[in-house]
Amino acid sequence: MIRVLFVCLGNICRSPTAHGVFVKKTEEHGLQGQVDVDSAGTAAYHCGEAPDARASAAAARRGYDLSELRARQAVAEDFYTFDYVLAMDHANLINLQALCPSDAPTRPQLFLQTYGRRFQESEVPDPYYGGSDGFEHVLDLVEDACEGLLADIQARLERAQ
Ligand code: 4NP
Repeated sequence: MIRVLFVCLGNICRSPTAHGVFVKKTEEHGLQGQVDVDSAGTAAYHCGEAPDARASAAAARRGYDLSELRARQAVAEDFYTFDYVLAMDHANLINLQALCPSDAPTRPQLFLQTYGRRFQESEVPDPYYGGSDGFEHVLDLVEDACEGLLADIQARLERAQ
């Protein structure tokens, strides 16, 4: 099993979007049961909450279901449990680096910089205080980087066979 954790600030907009998109992509490629997906926030503000209604609506328009997701805060143990810990922006990355124990096998990575293909941006911008365009842009960036991540995981699974 390969485990993937997407992380943003509140775990109600960007990382649940990535979570929902990546679950669907793994299912489309027959990898359900081989890849476990989760998401978390560096902050605890929204723990236990469902995703932001704007994020859920934008995701649903593209066929992604975020309705079962609930926010939680990232914890140090995540760096032992997950094979990929993927930060949405530089501030999230810095917070995760501070949380990551020195002997943990997994280090946090900047999601777009590592797996993005079509866009120049290295960060998924925070859409929380903006309009609905921001949520569409999050989906565009996340869908693209999820393709790159999927290719990396498929190669990893093939090597392990
Ligand atoms: P997210 O967006 O990190 O993509 O979930 C935010 C959600 C909540 C807040 C900021 C960003 N907030 O300040 O409450």
